Amino acid sequence: MKRFLVPSLRCVSCTGRRLTLQVTHESAVEVRTGCLTCADCGSVFEIRDGILDVLDPLDDVIRKEIHGWIELAGPLEEHLVSQMAALPYFPQGPWPHTAPDFFQIFEIVDLAGKSVVDIGAGRTWSSRFLATIGRAGEVVAVDVLKTRFLGLETAEIFFHDDGSHFERIAGDIHNIPLVEGWADVVFSCAAIHHSSGIEALFREIWRILKPGGLFVFVSEPSKKASIKERQPVNAETAHGINEHIYSFDEYMSALRATGFQPRQLSPRSIRYRLLYPDAEFREGIPPWLWRFGRTEVGRRIVPWLLGGRLTGPILYRVANLPLSVIAKRPGA
Ligand SMILES: C[S@@+](CC[C@H](N)C(=O)[O-])C[C@H]1O[C@@H](n2cnc3c(N)ncnc32)[C@H](O)[C@@H]1O
Ligand SMILES: [Zn+2]
Repeated sequence: MKRFLVPSLRCVSCTGRRLTLQVTHESAVEVRTGCLTCADCGSVFEIRDGILDVLDPLDDVIRKEIHGWIELAGPLEEHLVSQMAALPYFPQGPWPHTAPDFFQIFEIVDLAGKSVVDIGAGRTWSSRFLATIGRAGEVVAVDVLKTRFLGLETAEIFFHDDGSHFERIAGDIHNIPLVEGWADVVFSCAAIHHSSGIEALFREIWRILKPGGLFVFVSEPSKKASIKERQPVNAETAHGINEHIYSFDEYMSALRATGFQPRQLSPRSIRYRLLYPDAEFREGIPPWLWRFGRTEVGRRIVPWLLGGRLTGPILYRVANLPLSVIAKRPGA
């Protein structure tokens, strides 16, 4: 954590802003070891390996999330370095779908010089590219996981490889230790559906965004309207990970209720998945749409309809599809 971040922080226990930094060890780039103390409530937050830790150790949902990911991953060994360095380009699911949907945002959102928060950043490959390719001024990665090859400690591989740097906070995305209006952009890849309360999450994102700021998320699973279940049955939930499935209308109405002006993009991965279908994609699409989407004309038209203001919501109601959204906090 760099020293300059301190005035941008607030206490997650009492929301106070009188935080003082004590440094035990500092590298040429950042504070590596130390702590932040809140003068208002006395809470102490540790900084270790450059990561500010504001996690509540007694929060049961977060404890289960961390434990679930570690258990699901199995052994994490140093041979994974090359895989991490290649992310999000890795030739196994979900990466062939994630990579095109992620890089699409650089054609639409100008991040240059902006303050960006990457929520649910996990291994932080996205923070790496927001900072480098996106040329953001500042990037703050927030996740509950610190573990190397799963969470925030993975960033050391990128710092070493390309000399990039971004801030890392081990914390809950529902209670982010940043002051009101700090961010120009809040970004997320495939993490929103880990929230049990997207309304509360969107209010927190609104709080840390400047008026006129953007909330951008990609690769969120969206379920068709006929599915009522909120919790999928899969390997992640079997390990206690906090997975949910929301519909297009649930995402959009929660965004609008917060005050955001959202619009869905047509995810780049759709055309690829129509040509190279995977079982999950195939099963989530009604037969008539599948037959049409597999024709040469359909492969061009379905992605176009998906991005349409009127046609997109209709397709999202009848199919399980990845969702990418740009939502503006109006005001500037
Ligand atoms: C499917 S992973 C996506 C990770 C990363 N964005 C990517 O695309 O590779 C979901 C991430 O959300 C994180 N997460 C879940 N609940 C969280 C919470 N309440 N606060 C912060 N992070 C959370 C998990 O630890 C995990 O890293
Ligand atoms: Zn406090």
